[in-house]
Amino acid sequence: MESIQLSNGMTMPLIGLGTWDLNGQECVKMVKTALQLGYRLVDTAQMYGNEQAVGEGIRQSGIPRSEIFVTTKIYRPSASYEKARAAIDVSLARLGLTYVDLLLLHEPYQAGPQMYRALEEAYAQGKVHAIGISNYDENWYRTFLKQCTIKPMVNQLETHIFYQRANFQREMAAEGTMLQAWAPLAQAKTNLTTHPVLVRIGQAHGKRAAQVALRFLVQRGISVIPKTRHEARLKENLALFDFTLSDAEMQSIEALDQAKTFFPWTLAF
Ligand SMILES: NC(=O)c1ccc[n+]([C@@H]2O[C@H](COP(=O)([O-])OP(=O)(O)OC[C@H]3O[C@@H](n4cnc5c(N)ncnc54)[C@H](OP(=O)(O)O)[C@@H]3O)[C@@H](O)[C@H]2O)c1
Repeated sequence: MESIQLSNGMTMPLIGLGTWDLNGQECVKMVKTALQLGYRLVDTAQMYGNEQAVGEGIRQSGIPRSEIFVTTKIYRPSASYEKARAAIDVSLARLGLTYVDLLLLHEPYQAGPQMYRALEEAYAQGKVHAIGISNYDENWYRTFLKQCTIKPMVNQLETHIFYQRANFQREMAAEGTMLQAWAPLAQAKTNLTTHPVLVRIGQAHGKRAAQVALRFLVQRGISVIPKTRHEARLKENLALFDFTLSDAEMQSIEALDQAKTFFPWTLAF
C-alpha cells in the first residue's frame, strides 16, 4: 500500500475507505470487504454513529490490527477538555480497540484548543498514535498553530478536482501537517464521474473518470478516503497505483479548480 509519512514518522496509506453514511451490517460488510481487498485505512467518526460497526468489520476481516490505520474524530458534544478526554475512551470502547492510529477534532470549535489538549494527552499515553484536525481553513489553522503544543499531523479537508487547495497543502506541509481529502469525488454531487476532461485522460490509461480524479490527488501526495457501498467501486477506487498522469494531464486537471466549497456548512464555523 502506497503511503505518506506523518511528522512523527508514522506512515498513512494514500487510499482509505470513508464510512460516512454506512451503518449497521452494511457498514460491517463494506469495512470487512475493503480490508480483504487490500484497503488498509478506514475513516470513521463519533458523528457517523458507526464506530461499533467499523470495529466489527475490522475484526471480521481477519487482517491483523497492526496492519490497519484507523481514524476517528470527536466533535461538538465533547466541547471541553474533560468531555474530550472521556470521548476518546468512548471511541476506543465502541471500536473495540486499544488504540486508534489517528484521532481528529472533527471541526473547528471555540473549545478546540482545550479539546486538543486531551488529544495530546492521549497521544502521550499511546491511546492514539497520531493527532490532528479537520475542516480547519487557513484562518482557523494559522490561529490553531499558536494554541497547540503538538502541531496537527493531519488536516482532513474537503478536497477534490474542483477544490484543489494546492497553496494550503504547501503551507501546511511546511508545518508538518499533511492534507487528507474528504469527499475526494465531490460526493458525486457533480458531473465529476463523467467529466469530459477526466473521461478523455482515463481513456488513455484504461481508467474511469473517478479513478483519474483520485489519482490526481494521490499523485500530489494527498491521502484520499472515498466512500462507496458497492464492491465494484471499492476495487475501482483502490486501483490507482498502476498508472501515472503526465505533467500535461495534471495541468489540464489543475485548470478545473474552482477553489470553492461544494458544502456550505463548512463556511459556518
Ligand atoms: N471530516 C469531515 O468533516 C468529513 C466530511 C465528509 C466526509 N468525510 C469522510 O470522507 C469520506 C468520503 O467523503 P464522502 O463520502 O462525503 O464523499 P466521496 O467519497 O467524495 O463520494 C461518495 C459518493 O461517490 C460515489 N462513488 C464512490 N466511488 C465511486 C466511483 N468509483 N464511481 C462513481 N461514484 C462513486 C458513492 O456512491 P456509492 O456509495 O453508491 O458507490 C457516493 O455517492 C466520508 O465517507 C467520510 O469518511 C469527512
